[in-house]
Amino acid sequence: MKKLKLNINCHYGCFGTFSERYVPGGYDIIYEFEKMLEVMSGIDGLEGLAVWWPGHPYIDEPSRLKKILSDHGLRVSDIGPDIWSDPIFKYGSISSTDKNIRKKAIEVTKRNIDLAVELDAYSVLLWPAHDGFDYVFQADYSSAWDYMLESVNEIGSHNPDVKIAIEPKQKDPRAKEYIEDCGKLLFFIKCLDVDNVGAALDLGHSLFAQERPAESLALYHKYNKLYQVHLNDNYRDADPDLVFGSINFWDTLEMFYWLGKAGFGGWLNIDTVTPRNDRAKMLKLAVKFVKDYERMANILLEHEAEVDSNLKNHNYVDNMLFIRELIFGK
Ligand SMILES: [Fe+2]
Repeated sequence: MKKLKLNINCHYGCFGTFSERYVPGGYDIIYEFEKMLEVMSGIDGLEGLAVWWPGHPYIDEPSRLKKILSDHGLRVSDIGPDIWSDPIFKYGSISSTDKNIRKKAIEVTKRNIDLAVELDAYSVLLWPAHDGFDYVFQADYSSAWDYMLESVNEIGSHNPDVKIAIEPKQKDPRAKEYIEDCGKLLFFIKCLDVDNVGAALDLGHSLFAQERPAESLALYHKYNKLYQVHLNDNYRDADPDLVFGSINFWDTLEMFYWLGKAGFGGWLNIDTVTPRNDRAKMLKLAVKFVKDYERMANILLEHEAEVDSNLKNHNYVDNMLFIRELIFGK
């Protein structure tokens, strides 16, 4: 019988000041890194920290970072290149029409791949944040695609043993981004010459791209390309990174059921923004919600044969009568 046992992580960005254009000074004071680790070590079930290079605390001292984390019962889960916060990337990173900017993005990513090995990270996150466009007649779509393939082929071949997870997103910071959803990402991966490039399924990005997150997850898994899952929530119209588990109940439960069927061994990354509530308490709530969904998915997985036989018959109503009783009782 399949059973879901999730690895849960978060990142320092969950404790940010959340400065934005309306409140450029941020909503809260800077949360010290060590204070965040104290909070994390007190949350049952939270075991990993996703980091980035350059700029993350202690990232240039990998063994010291590992020691600090293990002193708090934590370890590095994933790592990713910061190829978005420097305005040099404002017209794109891996798709830039400027060879030197593409080279910089590739070199920064390669450094993260090397650090992933040193830090025993599960995978490297590649989010092409500015690789897209804002207007018609602004981008050469064809050459941008070629540049992205060329860049990611070089990144993937740097160390074939390290998984590279590309995170699709429809928009923000660009009005439109090239790799915008599950379908386009899977086709992009198929066009590559390397085998170690897969997907980071961000639940919020999937929802606001009008996908069914469980379907996207099932497709990534079918081709062994599910490398990361990011958890947050929204109203399917934007990406405010609301606390995971708060809005879209049934889609989330269905995704967790398929996560269990997939036997996913990577990390579930809590990826939320908390400008108006206590950051530590919100993280605790998110982890509790993850454990709640894990518990509910495990109840469904105990009855996988019945649930799946209803799927084969397209029998929604019998399935929902069965599932709601399992979750809520008679
Ligand atoms: Fe994400």
